[in-house]
Amino acid sequence: MKSLLKFIMCGSVDDGKSTLIGHMLYDAKLLFADQEEALELDSKVGSRGGEIDYSLLLDGLMAEREQGITIDVAYRYFTTDHRSFIVADTPGHEEYTRNMAVGASFADLAVILVDATKGVITQTKRHARICSLMGIKHLVLAVNKMDLIDFDQNRFDEIKKDFMQMTHGFNIDSVEVIPVSATEGDNITKKSENTLWYQGLPLLPYLENIDVRKENEQHGFVMPVQRVSRPNHTFRGFQGQIEAGSINVGDEVITLPSNERAKVKTLLVTDQESDKALNGQPVTIQLDREVDVSRGNVLTSSENVQVADMFTATILWMDDTKLVPGRNYLVKVGTKTLPGTVMSIKHKIDINTGDKVPAEHIYKNELVECDISLSENMVFDTFENNEALGGLILIDRVSNMTSACGVIEHSLRRSTNVKWQQTDITKDLRAQQKGQKPLTLWFTGLSGSGKSTLANEVEKRLVSMGHHTMLLDGDNVRHGLNKNLGFKENDRVENIRRIAEVSKLMNDAGLITLASFISPYESDRQNAREIIGEDYIEIYVSTPLEECEKRDVKGLYQKARTGEIPNFTGISSPYETPANPEVEIDTSQHSLEEATEYVINQILKYLD
Ligand code: ADX
Repeated sequence: MKSLLKFIMCGSVDDGKSTLIGHMLYDAKLLFADQEEALELDSKVGSRGGEIDYSLLLDGLMAEREQGITIDVAYRYFTTDHRSFIVADTPGHEEYTRNMAVGASFADLAVILVDATKGVITQTKRHARICSLMGIKHLVLAVNKMDLIDFDQNRFDEIKKDFMQMTHGFNIDSVEVIPVSATEGDNITKKSENTLWYQGLPLLPYLENIDVRKENEQHGFVMPVQRVSRPNHTFRGFQGQIEAGSINVGDEVITLPSNERAKVKTLLVTDQESDKALNGQPVTIQLDREVDVSRGNVLTSSENVQVADMFTATILWMDDTKLVPGRNYLVKVGTKTLPGTVMSIKHKIDINTGDKVPAEHIYKNELVECDISLSENMVFDTFENNEALGGLILIDRVSNMTSACGVIEHSLRRSTNVKWQQTDITKDLRAQQKGQKPLTLWFTGLSGSGKSTLANEVEKRLVSMGHHTMLLDGDNVRHGLNKNLGFKENDRVENIRRIAEVSKLMNDAGLITLASFISPYESDRQNAREIIGEDYIEIYVSTPLEECEKRDVKGLYQKARTGEIPNFTGISSPYETPANPEVEIDTSQHSLEEATEYVINQILKYLD
């Protein structure tokens, strides 16, 4: 069987990436005849005056044709006499680092393109560093447009030296630098007459011959469980795809996190019974005894795999909004996704030099080492040991976009000396004693929207109805519990987290909490909703900014307009409109009595 090489092609917008891949396919006669004809026809109206424009071959995406840039990862398959290839063609535009990282996570080798007239640029450094971060151990620098510098060996040597210096210290196994011309075809499939000084192989033969098998790879068996299948009461099978190693009938496996041992009784590869299953195959495993395993757990033979709820990771931040420590994301490792928080930023990594630089915030396209804490235990490994269980992505909880991708460096141990203490008097008992159902009424809205006034009236009505309540107000809490917090984004994240925890404690005490805080960020409100659970009722006080500013009860808007107060919500700091509040009320449209009556009526159904 021919071996398979998965590689990624990265370069800047005009480096000639699509042309290079296109030329490789064309020269190697890897095109179907009709595709070739189409290409020749298309080129007549293309940008190379009737000569074949090889980049047209790869323009799967209309947008690339229109904008002249690639905007997504496109995977292409081709085969030569010696090897099969999958190439991820990824965008070169600065905007699209996200796609490059995704492409790199799948590849064994990266071909990084530079323009010989420009040499190694910031983009080249970023690409090389991201490839290395994503576990690529083999780099090829294709120095393109050699024809434009008259195949000058000195210039080529300078570029090669720059690249070798830059990648020195990377955790990689091989680097090759090849002089090419994608448009003219030098050193693509055949050795060029124009670079007789170049001793190495042309690009395609190099890719056909390189050995990318991993020396230190962990061969221990790892399979995250995707499904527990129980077709009848005698059969219980664990289904999933083997992420590392192989397994035989009779082998012993460890179940994680339950940490039990059992032997493989039967194995199904797809639907066929088999003695053995290999890396990458989808299997159903039946064990010789009952074990405690559910979806997201892992069967493994490796003693390295860890079960913990904290780890240190290096991540590439890809979101337009900055990374704020303390904020909650979804963390996906293997097949398992859990809520988690970036607890602290250790440092960012300078993309040019690799130096560790102190940082408070992380912006798009920056690399950062940070500690991540999860809501519960997760099964993982270091990326160095196992790419499937050591790679992670962070997902924004509101937009559902991938905010970051990265690799796990090592696990962190949370103190096991703190244990949850069960008490005899429970939340239910405390609530029963008060004859009510605990709730948190979470009032959100701009400063001056009327949250506090309304919360105050609603509390009075609840008390007159015989309820037991507690009101938490932004300004008041900032006098005590949160007096050490300001109004920068990370301070507000922490402000809301603490209030949510306090509200939950009040609910545990059997009380109805009224929390009145601007709470401007959707993700933080969502986090509060998760901390508090089903007791959380969101009341959006949607009084428009103009009205709040007109009222300006505390004179703060005026100060914010003159710049005297920085980061003022609605003026110099955002307010994200709630997506799904249980109740919405605009106090500019109603008297205080009407608004109170409306809120009480809306929450009646939650009170019993
Ligand atoms: S939150 O954004 O973190 O939820 P919180 O509700 O606790 O804010 O506090 C808001 C109150 O602090 C406002 O009602 C206002 O009186 C005062 N305040 C002082 N500076 C600011 C600011 N920069 N932005 C918003 N409110 C501010």
